[in-house]
Amino acid sequence: MKRVIAIDGPAGAGKSTVAKIVAEKLGYTYIDTGAMYRGVAWKTLQQSQEARDEDILRAVQDIDVRLACTESGTRVTVDGTDVTREIRTPEVTHIVSRVAALGSVREKMVELQRAMAADGAVVMDGRDIGTNVLPNADVKIFLTASVEERARRRYDEMKEKGYAVDFDELKHEIASRDKQDSERAISPLRQAEDAVLLDSTSLTIDEVVARILKLSE
Ligand code: CDP
Ligand code: CDP
Repeated sequence: MKRVIAIDGPAGAGKSTVAKIVAEKLGYTYIDTGAMYRGVAWKTLQQSQEARDEDILRAVQDIDVRLACTESGTRVTVDGTDVTREIRTPEVTHIVSRVAALGSVREKMVELQRAMAADGAVVMDGRDIGTNVLPNADVKIFLTASVEERARRRYDEMKEKGYAVDFDELKHEIASRDKQDSERAISPLRQAEDAVLLDSTSLTIDEVVARILKLSE
């Protein structure tokens, strides 16, 4: 039995959706590392709408970010406040890649993530899990899909949640976040050499889950 599963890939590839189901099926803990960077971005915006680098560094300095697995999914708290919904707003999404590019933000988050995975039995998703956070993971997946398909998925999701979104704007935001995440100096988004590439463009959620479970046997 493989006890540590790492899933990386660009925005909207389906990482959190499938990671959550795989974790449930295996009785593992699901760790959404993107939610942690979103938590830092949320706190920064609480303190300054400009979100300059020094504002981000101030926000992360004494931050207490926690993830809790509940029946209704992962709850995220920042300094004791539940921000599960607030970290998904377009404002947070707009600055999160800039927040996540800073070395001291990454250092702090990676330390927490490694501690959370220390006892095994985890499915962790993000951008640098297989390459940097958990290089010894038993299973590494690089989950991707065409940018068109990823934008379509995110568009449907945002509409369902009641956000007024423009498809082309969303596609542009996703492409620009992928570019920032792939081109940053520290732990950029890339497929680990020993990761299995899964293109979900024309796969259902169940098909992706089945493939990951098979690789985890
Ligand atoms: O769910 P979505 O794909 O929109 O993004 P997310 O997983 O919530 O991650 C938000 C952002 O956090 C990403 O665009 C990255 O900039 C950053 N991130 C990161 O740098 N490293 C990770 N391990 C996870 C997320
Ligand atoms: O975590 P990441 O940003 O990679 O993606 P997500 O937040 O899981 O969003 C993916 C969206 O696409 C969700 O609304 C899923 O229902 C949908 N979807 C999927 O995840 N996988 C497929 N194979 C097909 C659709």
